[in-house]
Amino acid sequence: MAAPRRGSARLLSLLHPYKLLFAGTIAATVVSSVLDGFTFVLLIPFLRTLFGDSALPSQGGSQVEAVLDKIAGPFLRAGTPEIALRNVVIVLLVALFLKNITQYLSALGQVSIQEGIVRDLRVRLFDHLQRLPLGYFQRTRAGQTIARVISDTDQVKTAVSAALASLLQNVVVIIVYVVILFGLSVKLTMLSLLLAPVLLLIIRPMINRLRRRSRELAAERGEVTSHVGEMIASAKLVRAYVAEAFELDRFRVLAERYLKRVLRAQRYSSLTSPVSEVFGGVMIVLILVVGTRLALGTGATLEPAVLITFLAVSLRLMSPIKSVSNYPTVMASATASAERVFEVLDLPPAEGDRPGETTAEFSDRIEFRGVSFEYEASEPVLRDVDLEVKRGQIVAIVGPSGAGKTTLVDLLPRFYEPTRGAILMDSVPLTNYTRTSVRKLMGIVSQETVLLNDTVLANVAYGLKDVPLEQVRAAARAANADEFIMRLPEGYATVLGERGTRLSGGQRQRIAIARALLRDPPILILDEATSALDTESERLVQEAIERLMAHRTVFVIAHRLATVQHADFIVVLAEGRIVEHGSHTNLLAGDGLYRRLYNLQFRS
Ligand SMILES: Nc1ncnc2c1ncn2[C@@H]1O[C@H](COP(=O)(O)OP(=O)(O)OP(=O)(O)O)[C@@H](O)[C@H]1O
Ligand SMILES: [Mg+2]
Repeated sequence: MAAPRRGSARLLSLLHPYKLLFAGTIAATVVSSVLDGFTFVLLIPFLRTLFGDSALPSQGGSQVEAVLDKIAGPFLRAGTPEIALRNVVIVLLVALFLKNITQYLSALGQVSIQEGIVRDLRVRLFDHLQRLPLGYFQRTRAGQTIARVISDTDQVKTAVSAALASLLQNVVVIIVYVVILFGLSVKLTMLSLLLAPVLLLIIRPMINRLRRRSRELAAERGEVTSHVGEMIASAKLVRAYVAEAFELDRFRVLAERYLKRVLRAQRYSSLTSPVSEVFGGVMIVLILVVGTRLALGTGATLEPAVLITFLAVSLRLMSPIKSVSNYPTVMASATASAERVFEVLDLPPAEGDRPGETTAEFSDRIEFRGVSFEYEASEPVLRDVDLEVKRGQIVAIVGPSGAGKTTLVDLLPRFYEPTRGAILMDSVPLTNYTRTSVRKLMGIVSQETVLLNDTVLANVAYGLKDVPLEQVRAAARAANADEFIMRLPEGYATVLGERGTRLSGGQRQRIAIARALLRDPPILILDEATSALDTESERLVQEAIERLMAHRTVFVIAHRLATVQHADFIVVLAEGRIVEHGSHTNLLAGDGLYRRLYNLQFRS
């Protein structure tokens, strides 16, 4: 991985794909700023005509006038004052028109770049999230991650757009205007420029504080997002326990804290604007005082028309200068967000194939050899598990809740890697194979069926492309699901999930079974749901499971009596260890945990 670069350098690297567009935008900005300055310079001939002079002096005018003379001299000097004035207006209108076209183009360019950067970042984050270890999602609140993908990327855009708009555009404008000011009066311009560094010294310390506050604020935004998400997910629980008031109080506290954070950050970010404005005001007053002294009296070196233009241009300079002095403020909060985005991007991905990994093949057996596993350091969940399953066998895993059954089967698709020992497929460690190829060999029906916000068809054919409806229906039929699916309002086109039709527990399970059947994997991992089903759906689900298990190598976490009896052998897991091992009859004949569990569950 590349060494972490400084935030701002990294932000600039986001611009890379937009080099050309960026150059075009800058060009448009420069042209529009020059034209903007030009419209102001046209004030001079206008004022001169108004004061009864000729629109342009024949000699001895300011530098700016000399340039203006070169560009539009004959046109502005022509004929009577009325004609000259009319001509000034025409030139003004043309310049104004061109200026706005280029300004429009530059605005469009800026937005395309900004939004392009946001999209790039979001896609990169999404892609990266999909490759992070599963542990990340258990450690991190969902809302924090969502906030990073949605609002923090948006803030990053502000940073880049601030770099684009606020800085580049305004710097160009300022340079153009300062050049014009120099052309009008060197003395007055020097005077104003000498004061500029003072402003910098005043603003600097405020920015450092703001950066820290912004970081806190972004984290708090993630907390608020998390809380809302969790309330939505647990809406039923909240109602069931009449906990609305409790939840509201918790949210109020959070919202209040967010408000405080916003205000604390705002204290600094709102300060730069008035500070720079007061500063600008002082500058204008100074120009007025010194300017009038230069323009009045007998030894006057400045013409009134030039002084007025100088003032107008200086006033026009206020707004870009204000924006530029605001730039560090905007950057402070944006870099805080950018750091949060880059933090996620810098997490080492767990997935992704390592060199030397090959495509998995399965023909003979799967073995666990001395496998231990822990989620947290020194809290073993699996201890020294040895297990051998031959192709075509069904192994049932039973044991008390929390024994590590789900964890054991989660190691097969390489969701996690064993902390010690190895899992071998045909005597080759699973780690020699790519994760994707290992997973393609396995069908997984987990304890909780996850349905996507999509049609039944897409839910059954999840992850597969262009599967014919007939094939999906065949899988659903084998899973005893076709019948109820056909009774849904739009059959296989019915949308399921959050915003669609809700299914019962047994129906969801059968969708999951159809999903696994359609993929037709040689290895099957079945984490039987413990949810009680009525006898009718129990029978339908059981039938579906039996069809699914046929001719496959099956790891089944078994709760159902029927499943246990179908198994070739059973392992009993307790506190992460295999404590018993054997056939149903043998284990029942013994006097171990299996018999106790069996008696508890299936006494009837
Ligand atoms: N992501 C995780 N991070 C930390 N600990 C975990 C994680 N998942 C499970 N555990 C812990 O590991 C142990 C085994 O959990 P596991 O889910 O494998 O149990 P189980 O046998 O499947 O239980 P059940 O029958 O209730 O489904 C438990 O003590 C659990 O608290
Ligand atoms: Mg489990």
